[in-house]
Amino acid sequence: MNDLLKGKRGIIFGALDPNSIAWKVAQHCNRQGAVFTLTNAPVALRLGAINQLAQECNATVIPADVTSDADLENLLDKSIELLGGKMDFILHSVGMSLNIRKGKAYTELDYEMMKKTFDISSISLHRLLQNCMKKDAINEWGSVVALTYIAAQRVFPDYNEMADAKALLESIARSFGYHYGVKKKVRVNTISQSPTKTTAGSGVKGFGSFFDYAHAMSPLGNATADDCANYCVAMFSDLTRMVTMQNLYHDGGFSFMGISNAVIDQMK
Ligand SMILES: NC(=O)c1ccc[n+]([C@@H]2O[C@H](COP(=O)([O-])OP(=O)(O)OC[C@H]3O[C@@H](n4cnc5c(N)ncnc54)[C@H](O)[C@@H]3O)[C@@H](O)[C@H]2O)c1
Repeated sequence: MNDLLKGKRGIIFGALDPNSIAWKVAQHCNRQGAVFTLTNAPVALRLGAINQLAQECNATVIPADVTSDADLENLLDKSIELLGGKMDFILHSVGMSLNIRKGKAYTELDYEMMKKTFDISSISLHRLLQNCMKKDAINEWGSVVALTYIAAQRVFPDYNEMADAKALLESIARSFGYHYGVKKKVRVNTISQSPTKTTAGSGVKGFGSFFDYAHAMSPLGNATADDCANYCVAMFSDLTRMVTMQNLYHDGGFSFMGISNAVIDQMK
């Protein structure tokens, strides 16, 4: 299917390198006819890989730290100016845990780091939506998607404080989704993605086993970053106009499994 996003304008957060889920989303949105700006934290932009993606998608890169209102305001103003109007879609693909980076166990968290984790990984969605609402930066029926993980509902011990960050992120999507829906018919959803081999994903202790276990548990296997990008395109398109305030599992069926024969066989 082509041109699902023809005439649509957007902002894509979080493309760090070609493994990033946001990188694939940008490529798929480009193929489907959308125009968009790309953004990431200034420190991530220094790595430079994003320029290659920007060239491929004919997009401008605008630095923004998601914990800064000033950066987000500038990002919205510039995106509206460059793309010639308000946004139709936004991808929030941002996550970072300082405690995980420093190797802290869940029972020995540093609370200053935890606050920073929440600010970057969860509150940033509220900050983004609040700034969008203030500036009236999203068109009616616009679609905002944030990426999350099932550790918000079930215990995955080494996912650590990110489990709590994702629970907060999903709650913000629901709560703001209500207000933005009533006010402007803007939709806000989270997509709960399978484990995916990216920089953020691989930072979680035991990620390899996590990945293999989820694959063996899921009747369809793990969803790839490309699969996730397709789902994001569907959520940004007009084909999903009545979907809002949902946490949408995109995980090959993992979320409803108890045990699979593949896992039983491995336990023998
Ligand atoms: N990889 C997985 O297994 C998996 C599974 C489910 C959900 N997710 C979620 O998908 C999203 C994207 O992660 P990914 O796996 O593509 O990894 P990634 O490392 O490629 O992307 C994370 C992005 O967050 C950005 N970021 C960090 N701090 C920021 C800040 N202060 N301001 C702006 N941007 C900042 C990073 O620069 C990076 O681009 C995250 O929310 C992650 O939790 C990942």
